[in-house]
Amino acid sequence: MPGDKSISHRAIMLGALAVGETRVTGLLEGEDVLSTAAAMRAMGATITRETDGTWSVHGVGVGALLQPQAALDMGNSGTSTRLLMGLVAGHAISATFVGDASLSKRPMGRVIEPLSLIGADFTASPGGRLPLMVRGASPAVPITYRLPVASAQVKSAILLAGLNTPGITTVIEPVPTRDHSERMLRGFGAELDVEVAPDGTRTIRLSGEAELRPQAITVPGDPSSAAFFAVAALIVPGSDLVIENVGLNPTRAALFAVLRKMGGSIEELDRREVGGEPVADLRVRHSALTGITVDPAVVPSMVDEFPVLFVAAALAAGRTVTSGLEELRVKESDRISAMHAALTLAGATVTETADGVIIDGTGGAPLAGTPDGTEVTTHLDHRIAMAMAVAGLASRTGVAVDDTRPIATSFPVFEALLEQVTG
Ligand code: S3P
Repeated sequence: MPGDKSISHRAIMLGALAVGETRVTGLLEGEDVLSTAAAMRAMGATITRETDGTWSVHGVGVGALLQPQAALDMGNSGTSTRLLMGLVAGHAISATFVGDASLSKRPMGRVIEPLSLIGADFTASPGGRLPLMVRGASPAVPITYRLPVASAQVKSAILLAGLNTPGITTVIEPVPTRDHSERMLRGFGAELDVEVAPDGTRTIRLSGEAELRPQAITVPGDPSSAAFFAVAALIVPGSDLVIENVGLNPTRAALFAVLRKMGGSIEELDRREVGGEPVADLRVRHSALTGITVDPAVVPSMVDEFPVLFVAAALAAGRTVTSGLEELRVKESDRISAMHAALTLAGATVTETADGVIIDGTGGAPLAGTPDGTEVTTHLDHRIAMAMAVAGLASRTGVAVDDTRPIATSFPVFEALLEQVTG
């Protein structure tokens, strides 16, 4: 599996804030991460790719980001946008953020609110959307902020702003979300501590005006990309697939547990540590799946995996019920309605609810496939395109997808790998 998208963004950003050279191997070379790299270059970092695929990042130091001379084009990437809004908010610079049609519909109020409390100033398009301008605070004010939505992007935006803020910035996270920022900030030498209350609430404290030390980072493979191949192997008869280099950080890996609960045969081979994160190879075999009710408590640790879980559910015996998925409506597309429409067109039985879907599976029989002359609509959302490609593998006539270009945002080798394992 190619590198983890979340970790790749953070490696470039923190490398750009450390004085000296950070070297990154296994970086995901998807469009989203390249948007982050371009933005950090525009703010002073020197970022190059060597011929062996290693990336070299010469950082400018916390507090020393330069004023970008043009608007920062974030493409399709919500993670780049929200995390970089945090970085700019804590520096004495201003920046304009623009993005594609999908990104320009996504809510930025969730980061504007806490970043305004530290003293940054925002001029956003109606509804708190892109294009928007951030004027950073100098000096910023340290805040204590309790996250109203379970979002690693909001948490990370505040922590990145806190790096250049005098004093202690505190984020309280009632529901744990992916912790790559915390792990990597510590790795770069920031003073960060995490206190976990008996009810699971996490309080994260970061000491500001941090000095980051450059690092050598190996990015583990992306579990969110592995997810498509895991489901493909489970639903295509005769499959026996080893997916190498899958990151299994507990804040990311819930999909594999849910699929096992549905009867999926997923075995971990060679569990090891890569770049401070747990990693294993996964052996996945075709399995008779059974529908389940998915506990909403696991949503944050598989938030990007629901589109492909819905595909597994469409092939399972019986009913799968999901809830607590409101956040899916504000991802690259409204993933609840996009998957409802796409799977229905492909012949699955799906009911949409306010915060989830209910799917009555085929019990292993292939889906019909998209009728002649029709295509599922991806709405500029890579995960809809990939999930429906996987559904196509378990259909009689195949699934036609209207636009596969968004796949390059997170998984440029998806089609080549799919060809390799099905060919
Ligand atoms: C991400 C956090 C998640 C996830 C996104 C990547 C990150 O978003 O959906 O793909 O790298 O921090 P939210 O924070 O909006 O849940």
